[in-house]
Amino acid sequence: MPADGEIEIKRGLNGVYFDSTKASFIDGEEGKLLYRGYNIHDLAENSTFEEVVYLLIYGKLPNRKELDDITAEIQASRDIPDYIYDIIRMVKDSHPMDVLRTAISALSASDPDAEDLSPEAITRIGLRLTAQAPTIVCAHHRISEGLSPVAPDSTLNHASNFLYMLKGEIPSDDEAKTLDVDFVLHAEHGANASAFAARVAAGTQTDFYSVVVAAISTLKGPSHGGAAESVMNVAIEIGDPENAREFAEKTLGSGGRIMGFGHRVYKTADPRARHLRERSQRLGEQYGDPKWFQILSALDAEMEPYQKRGIWANVDFFAGSIYHLFGIPKNLFISIFALGRIPGWTLQALEQYQNNILIRPLLNYTGEKDLKYIPIDERE
Ligand code: CMC
Repeated sequence: MPADGEIEIKRGLNGVYFDSTKASFIDGEEGKLLYRGYNIHDLAENSTFEEVVYLLIYGKLPNRKELDDITAEIQASRDIPDYIYDIIRMVKDSHPMDVLRTAISALSASDPDAEDLSPEAITRIGLRLTAQAPTIVCAHHRISEGLSPVAPDSTLNHASNFLYMLKGEIPSDDEAKTLDVDFVLHAEHGANASAFAARVAAGTQTDFYSVVVAAISTLKGPSHGGAAESVMNVAIEIGDPENAREFAEKTLGSGGRIMGFGHRVYKTADPRARHLRERSQRLGEQYGDPKWFQILSALDAEMEPYQKRGIWANVDFFAGSIYHLFGIPKNLFISIFALGRIPGWTLQALEQYQNNILIRPLLNYTGEKDLKYIPIDERE
């Protein structure tokens, strides 16, 4: 046992490699992100979410037939059982992420394969949850608004069907493409906190539903998936690009953080942010509502001095403005992140189950030792 002074603690596991992966490669100094070897820019510009799901799960870009097959499988798997609608109604006043977590947990009850940890079962469940999670999120949103859920449309792609089930109207191709790009950009990201939680759960050889529940619970926090919602709150508070400087000075001057900036791994521009920045600007112009992009751009400009400290806008900075322009309420923003990330969690669980080791690090104990036990009646 090393003496106290010899223990090196890496708080937050910052900079620690705990295993190997073939899922994604991140170079935080260069601002580079690869899924299964392919650059995120190529995927965001040329691929659909369905293609990326195939790439992540099967490790290669699909040919036309393989893409058609996985698209059909996702489209055919969107329905959720009636008892899930009942559960959603029972917990409808909870945060959408809590409802998603609860509903996914409950889905295990109707899956005879729930305890099967074989790669085939995990792949099957991962694809089915990818398909069903949007149905849960949209059904909950509509039920909480006093509306009837909209049944999935098996002719639409993933992004289009999500917007359709949410609003009851088929989106334009461009709107659907913007959300499709957003899903692609959120699909996988190495040892981020929710994927790590997924791996910790899978490492105990618990079932895959429990793995996804652990991941959803972890994603919810504002230091991870919750940032897009916080950024939108900030944009609303700022209200006008001219107020961005005052807001930044006030927040940073009092030791606060600007949400949507900074990243544990990227010390340069987050490569994902570029695509959402462009989409936010374009959508704002198309909708005749460029204010949100202008406010965020003004805040981004105020944060320029922080770039030399490695603090840049991250993936969540412009995402919220896009969802807001789509008319999506702020409390749904993290759920959209979750919908995109399920394939990444699936792949990370597959890797963990296939080459498993219990993830069980150590804590350096700093409390008192060997205290004299005092019977309860003698305690002060
Ligand atoms: N605004 C101002 N200063 C910041 C920010 C920020 N957003 N982020 C980090 N810093 C400063 C921080 O104050 C600290 O300064 P100092 O060294 O003087 O104490 C320094 O940068 C390092 O911060 P840290 O918290 O030690 O770094 P970390 O790697 O633990 O932080 C982070 C990563 C994402 C938690 C943090 O940057 C943050 O809180 N950002 C805001 C929340 C956010 O946008 N989260 C979404 C992350 S991207 C989506 C995802 O993948 O989950």
